[in-house]
Amino acid sequence: MAGDTSSSPRVIMDGKLVPWERATIHVSTHGFLYGTAVFEGVRAYWNEKTRRLNVFELDAHSKRLERNAKMMGFSQTPDWKTLREWQLYALACNEFNADVYLRPVIYYGEGGIGIFPKTQAQRTLIMAVPMGSYFGKSTLAVKVSSWVRIPGNVIPPLAKVNGGYVNSYLAAKEARDAGFDDAIMLNRNGYVSEGSGANVFLVKDGHLITPGYSNDILDGVTRNHVMRLAKDLKIPVDVRTIARGELYTADELFFCGTGVEISPIGKVDHVTIGEGEPGPVTKQIQARFQASVRGHLPEYANLLTPVPLECPIPLTPL
Ligand SMILES: Cc1ncc(COP(=O)(O)O)c(C=O)c1O
Repeated sequence: MAGDTSSSPRVIMDGKLVPWERATIHVSTHGFLYGTAVFEGVRAYWNEKTRRLNVFELDAHSKRLERNAKMMGFSQTPDWKTLREWQLYALACNEFNADVYLRPVIYYGEGGIGIFPKTQAQRTLIMAVPMGSYFGKSTLAVKVSSWVRIPGNVIPPLAKVNGGYVNSYLAAKEARDAGFDDAIMLNRNGYVSEGSGANVFLVKDGHLITPGYSNDILDGVTRNHVMRLAKDLKIPVDVRTIARGELYTADELFFCGTGVEISPIGKVDHVTIGEGEPGPVTKQIQARFQASVRGHLPEYANLLTPVPLECPIPLTPL
């Protein structure tokens, strides 16, 4: 790595390349004090044959970030094409040789203290870290959370607002403390919403079923991809309200998301789902998902963006 001796990843801060150790924010950062920030989670997959990373659904993630920043009232932040470019820099300017997770964040920066940001700069950072399997196990045991999913008229879950993730944290913590791998949250009406960091699908009588936007879910990029995979596999998909009881009586159940990819669920609140192992539909979706994100299926190749081989920006210590 030219210019620094560290092997930790370098970070893009407002378009500049910064060593990991110097990639810090001020104590008065509004996004830290009040959660006024929006973020993305994006995966890049390492191809051993070409020895290159390919980013999955980079455009969809970049556009979602731009839309969410707009919803939060950010007006001076980069457009999706610039965000797209900076994410590629965050990969090209590091020396990864494994799968990587990108975390772009748009946030109100340092300034005074007060709920409405007045003088605070609008800032953008992009960090990239190696990431393999999220859970590190093939089948999950989950708990239906006592924490209710934040309703869209409190903080829109559709928008990946940082402050809203306290809701996810509390649900995940409760589940982990009780010995489960993760949580499924219900919405304020008691219907199935989503996991702490993933959308949920159930399989019943050969149909894939997932909650719609009115059930306070994130508009998941992976959820959309799963629906496309299902269509291509001729598996019918129903987007509808799901009652809590349907979780326990499903034939199969799985989480999907950029971080968790396709994660089969074998138990909900100690009730075994199907055989307690990944079922045939889940396995089919999982296999096609992996093949598509790793560039093995030409029909999905346009969803992958190869990372440039050269880093186009110099290292600028703060
Ligand atoms: C709460 C929540 N739901 C769903 C998802 C899945 O979304 P995506 O597939 O866009 O990563 C995430 C991903 O981070 C999430 O945090």
